[in-house]
Amino acid sequence: MNLQYEVISEEKIECCRDLCNELMAFQKSKAQIKPELFNSMNFDTRMVPSIKSALHNYIVVVKDMDKNEEAVAYVYSNISPKEAYSNDFATFFDLSSVKGKNVGCLSQFYIKEGYRQYGIGSKLFNMSMEWLNTFDDIEDYFIYVSNGNENALEFYKRKGFTVSHDILEGFITVLRSNKQLQDKKAV
Ligand SMILES: CC(C)(COP(=O)(O)OP(=O)(O)OC[C@H]1O[C@@H](n2cnc3c(N)ncnc32)[C@H](O)[C@@H]1OP(=O)(O)O)[C@@H](O)C(=O)NCCC(=O)NCCS
Repeated sequence: MNLQYEVISEEKIECCRDLCNELMAFQKSKAQIKPELFNSMNFDTRMVPSIKSALHNYIVVVKDMDKNEEAVAYVYSNISPKEAYSNDFATFFDLSSVKGKNVGCLSQFYIKEGYRQYGIGSKLFNMSMEWLNTFDDIEDYFIYVSNGNENALEFYKRKGFTVSHDILEGFITVLRSNKQLQDKKAV
């Protein structure tokens, strides 16, 4: 496979539109608890506002150079004030369990079918953790996995994240890791 990994600027996120929408549909197809919550989730309602409100964003897109540079995978991570995770929708974690002001999050992650199991996910995951590790003041990292996505849950566990708790009656599982753990894994 002739793949190109490209870190893209916020101005170029349009190339993630289809992948982001596929991710939402994929998560809905897996969910047993409240799948209807995904009906209103798409590129415009999830990715665009998230990028606007975060303090720092990191987006990597993988293009298949043999298929007219089609975008086949992406990962989106960000740094946000911890207060961003306590809102009308949910309280994602106990804010007092985070010492710092801001937290890191691996927010969206999608590899197209047919491109999974080749190590693309591991590479994008590692790039995201390396990016988070460049922020000296960010200690706590979060990933939110929707219910029914056992494959993703196991993937993140093998990468050093641990299940913290469920929210929204089991709609989302909150996974945590931190700078020290991910630093060690990178060695
Ligand atoms: C979860 C996801 C991102 C993982 O990406 P991926 O590219 O399939 O991941 P990798 O190929 O790096 O790793 C998957 C497994 O394949 C194995 N693998 C990697 N390269 C391989 C190869 N060349 N041959 C065989 N197996 C391989 C890895 O060892 C890994 O197994 P392990 O976790 O037991 O070590 C991907 O499956 C995906 O996008 N799923 C759909 C969307 C989704 O669930 N997103 C997450 C939302 S929270």
